[in-house]
Amino acid sequence: MKIHDFKTRKQNGQKISLLTCYDYPSARAVAESNLDAVLVGDSVAMVVHGHPNTMMATMEMMILHTQAVARGLSNQFLISDLPFLCHRVSFADTLLNVKALLQAGAQAVKIEGGDEQVCQTIRDLVTAGVPIMGHIGLTPQSVLQWGGYKVQGKDDEQAQAILAQARALEEAGCFSLVIECVPRHLAKTIANALTIPCIGIGAGVDVDGQILVWHDMLGLQTDFKPRFVKSFDVLKERIKSTINTYDHDVKQAQFPTEEHSF
Ligand code: KIV
Repeated sequence: MKIHDFKTRKQNGQKISLLTCYDYPSARAVAESNLDAVLVGDSVAMVVHGHPNTMMATMEMMILHTQAVARGLSNQFLISDLPFLCHRVSFADTLLNVKALLQAGAQAVKIEGGDEQVCQTIRDLVTAGVPIMGHIGLTPQSVLQWGGYKVQGKDDEQAQAILAQARALEEAGCFSLVIECVPRHLAKTIANALTIPCIGIGAGVDVDGQILVWHDMLGLQTDFKPRFVKSFDVLKERIKSTINTYDHDVKQAQFPTEEHSF
């Protein structure tokens, strides 16, 4: 999938499928699938590195994981997250951060938030030739301010503010938007109001595509499952059982056999 396909898909009413992805072998599996695009999300700090929130993601982390995923993909569009506060620095430093992600192999960069300062930065980055995906609603880089992961836009005033942010981000030049954890009717209103595709996570079905975190979708982590997550498998259980089979065979001297010996 190429960047211009995002808008075409929306115009044709065809949904877009995205997943997060963080490493080379997973990217190889994606490369052989029908998935449209992947995001090296700053969620990597939580699901891969075990940190409590996405604020712990660093540029170094994002560059390494983006490089690994880029080496594994073939046709999927690759987006990389700009970590916490990396666009709240001088524009020159923001450019260096964004350039590092693009040079690591990303084809676009996702930036959280829709206030005037973020919109101005996005406008300047788009002018400089950088494809930007916006992210509104529940923006995990703001959870310390909000005191937790809460559905956004439940009252009319908040909903209007999120809709205004969506319009401003489209006007600033974003090629697409992630809308996270907002009521279904608000996500629908936003998707209908914009010409760029709106990718939902916890935003209902009336948007232009969906994204889930790799570990949630595959059931690789079962400690915490938000209501919007559907695990399409329970790989953690299968991995555990496979490890136990190996452990058993080693301890019972059933592995290696002649077949695996020189
Ligand atoms: O970091 C991430 O994984 C994300 C997606 C969940 C949208 O931002």
